[in-house]
Amino acid sequence: MTWPDTGVSAALRQTFAAELDPQFDRGWVDAFAAVPRHVFVPRYYAQSDNRSWRSVTLGDPGYMETIYSNQALTTQLDEHGIPTSSSSEPALMLEMLDALDARQGDTVFELGTGTGYNTALLSHRLGDDNVTSLDVDPSLVEAAAFRLEKAGYRPFVTTGDGARGWPQRSPYTRIIATAALRAVPAPFLDQAAPGAIIVAPIGYGVLRATVTAPGHATGRFLPTPAHFMPRRTQGAAPAFDAVRSVEPADTKVAPTDILDRLRFPLSIALPGHSSCSWRDDDGELTAVGLWTEDGSTATAHVSGAVRQIGPRRPWDVVEDLAIFENVPPRDDFHVTITPSRQTVWYNAPDGPSWELPGGDGP
Ligand SMILES: C[S@@+](CC[C@H](N)C(=O)[O-])C[C@H]1O[C@@H](n2cnc3c(N)ncnc32)[C@H](O)[C@@H]1O
Repeated sequence: MTWPDTGVSAALRQTFAAELDPQFDRGWVDAFAAVPRHVFVPRYYAQSDNRSWRSVTLGDPGYMETIYSNQALTTQLDEHGIPTSSSSEPALMLEMLDALDARQGDTVFELGTGTGYNTALLSHRLGDDNVTSLDVDPSLVEAAAFRLEKAGYRPFVTTGDGARGWPQRSPYTRIIATAALRAVPAPFLDQAAPGAIIVAPIGYGVLRATVTAPGHATGRFLPTPAHFMPRRTQGAAPAFDAVRSVEPADTKVAPTDILDRLRFPLSIALPGHSSCSWRDDDGELTAVGLWTEDGSTATAHVSGAVRQIGPRRPWDVVEDLAIFENVPPRDDFHVTITPSRQTVWYNAPDGPSWELPGGDGP
């Protein structure tokens, strides 16, 4: 591990911080200039054209340049080669920290310690005693605590399900999640101080909400797209074999829309869904697949033929989103949270709306 800095890492970090968007709070940009990302990401995994992963560490060509660039870096893979932890894209981290609006005197709870890099940025700005961070993976917590100390920070980090918060150190004036949630976990609201700000990825967007009364919050999504690690689940596999025997119906929605134009609203309307696509030998998209954890499955061919089975009727949900002619701006999606429900509404409280699955975790 190279810390203190070599001249190279210090110079690269200054350039990297200077290139972050100046519209955001200067205090956070200064934190990015001070906190050494390479200490928190001594190794990342890069995917080759054939989709295999290779490990890149200090001394490998391009390592330090990649660390000090605006790239999300995969830092942990499971036994199937599926990413399970990453260091998020710095520009998105900055935007989320700016939205959190945390200043001296704030107490922050973070779900998703991961590498500890974001935890270090919080400690740098707010002081160690004001930062509490949880990760569900004990090996990540151990490594993060070691690296935090190495870089000179001693926030409170521990292992646990961050969706339960950490009541022992509450109330928190600021709460941030760095793993994708389906709704704001109820303990976040229970452990929030009056007026607390919550910033959390929900589906393919990032929600910023303000606690207005115990158990109540209102907010809206940030304009920026976000793709955080999806929840790890034991859901049913897609029923592609069974769906093949279903009589097809016609759809007016272009199948590709679920991969781009409708990607964000679909993540709100069909929380936790998975999708895939099929291509021909020329690389042209031929069909998409869509399924939910209960095994409800749909396939949509580019010809417009749709087949679906299961109680969720996934393509019916897609059809309902045909109200959006263009890409709907994320910040037109608002959220109203009460102790009994979390409602996302588009443009106006009496506009199209969707219920988030009641206060569950990541
Ligand atoms: C995108 S990474 C976090 C990046 C991190 N903030 C950083 O700067 O490196 C998401 C992390 O969330 C963690 N995670 C997933 N589910 C969680 C849960 N229920 N409670 C706490 N952490 C969780 C994962 O283990 C993973 O390390």
